[in-house]
Amino acid sequence: MAYSGLTKLMAWTWTTLILSTQASMIIDSFQNADRNDLQAWHGVTPGLSISYGAGYVQIYPSTPDQAYHTQLSPSLCFNLTEHLLQSRPATDTNLTSSDGQESALHIHFSGAPVFSISLSQNNAGCTFPTPETWDSVDAARYAHNGEIYIPLSHFDVDQTRVVGISISGFHNDTDEITPNHQNMNRIRHTRDDVDEEDEVDEEYDGGDEPVDTSSIALHHIDIVPSIPNSFPRRPTKLPSGTLHQFCTVPGSFAFGIDDGKPGLAPAMMRVLEEEDALVTFFATGSGLRDEKANFSGVYREMLRKGHQVGMHSERHPKMEGLSSIEAIDDEITQNIEAMKTHLGIESNYFRPPYGTVGARTRQRLAALVSPAPRIITWSVDIEDWRWVNSDTPECQLEAFKRDVLTGGNLAVLHYLDESTVRYLREAIRFVRARGLTVMRVDRCLGDQMSSV
Ligand SMILES: *[C@@H]1O[C@H](CO)[C@@H](O)[C@H](O)[C@H]1NC(C)=O
Ligand SMILES: *[C@@H]1O[C@H](CO)[C@@H](O)[C@H](O)[C@H]1NC(C)=O
Ligand SMILES: *[C@@H]1O[C@H](CO)[C@@H](O)[C@H](O)[C@H]1NC(C)=O
Ligand SMILES: *[C@@H]1O[C@H](CO)[C@@H](O)[C@H](O)[C@H]1NC(C)=O
Repeated sequence: MAYSGLTKLMAWTWTTLILSTQASMIIDSFQNADRNDLQAWHGVTPGLSISYGAGYVQIYPSTPDQAYHTQLSPSLCFNLTEHLLQSRPATDTNLTSSDGQESALHIHFSGAPVFSISLSQNNAGCTFPTPETWDSVDAARYAHNGEIYIPLSHFDVDQTRVVGISISGFHNDTDEITPNHQNMNRIRHTRDDVDEEDEVDEEYDGGDEPVDTSSIALHHIDIVPSIPNSFPRRPTKLPSGTLHQFCTVPGSFAFGIDDGKPGLAPAMMRVLEEEDALVTFFATGSGLRDEKANFSGVYREMLRKGHQVGMHSERHPKMEGLSSIEAIDDEITQNIEAMKTHLGIESNYFRPPYGTVGARTRQRLAALVSPAPRIITWSVDIEDWRWVNSDTPECQLEAFKRDVLTGGNLAVLHYLDESTVRYLREAIRFVRARGLTVMRVDRCLGDQMSSV
């Protein structure tokens, strides 16, 4: 009868639902060079060489700022929260499943786990071509025998508007990674921030062969409803410092100004004064220590005038690529020390040199900087690094306007050339003409508490 037919149909639907809770969502099994399993884009940042094989991509990283991305949707947003809810029985709205297990990002790879894994988030309107922010974890903490399982809650982003997953932050620090004759992915932890469950694998058989970090292959990326019971690595989430590429206060715009030439500082100050604009400077420790350069005098005066001064590392390296945690820590602690000694301030604002960040840098900042660090990159690049020594320095203003017109509101520039200082005045007027309010980076993030 009709009724029993309906019951059957319901039973069938229910079974399908139950089954689907067990299924994983395959994001990428590398079957096609131009798209992933979700028919969305995957690919690299310029400069990273890769090659596709049957069911894998081989990556040959040379710097930490290279990245391999795979998107969750052909459009610019994917509602991961909704996906996870739909893949569970209707009664279970708790994303931690009934057996206490949680959905996890799973990656099958080969090579050494010397990279970060990030989940990126778009803005509320899903309109940006670049992510608004992302959170990263250190592959080495999660990897075991070529498998990685990361509980999705370890990615501190708005998962209702995810852009995609990135493999980046490549480095050569193999201190905590030791080769194994069967498999290269055995991990030995020695740091004190490692939990007890991260103990050395007992069957590890030592060996002094160097770990090969020259290439990594990705075979499979998916989201699984739970981490297999037999999988031994369950690290806790380490705090990782919030990353900001955009101002969050509506209608705000901020200039974040990095290194410069002390000789150009007076001209720079005059522009800021005449345009009545407050900005944020990011100072390296080595610059502050250089008495002849007089950066400490310059930045003390900037502080008196109400500008913000944040940190920019000690020596300006690509920090994520440094060969040890100690070297990363040193960049941070010496910069903190120089700020205290030469400016009498502490700041929790940090701009990574070259904008290069990964899980290790973010975690070490979170461990050493208090209150919780704000890591500031940018969404507007005046491209002074590209144009100041060219025949067309005016391209700086064009690059600046282009990024503002596509929604950028947090700028990066330097005062290394007279032309950039000159264009700064026009840049300020341009954003104001568009109805935006220029303010310090902390204020454009809604942080009224920070005083320096
Ligand atoms: C790792 O070291 C090699 C050899 O020194 C170097 O060519 C490569 O750029 C380094 N990789 C990264 C990600 O820094
Ligand atoms: C994403 O899905 C969740 C859960 O269904 C829902 O509450 C939220 O409004 C959705 N967000 C967007 C931007 O669609
Ligand atoms: C979800 O379930 C987990 C494990 O049972 C529990 O610890 C957590 O509090 C629950 N969360 C909510 C929002 O109910
Ligand atoms: C250092 O810079 C400050 C601020 O511009 C200036 O007042 C001071 O005279 C400078 N000191 C030297 C030694 O140049």
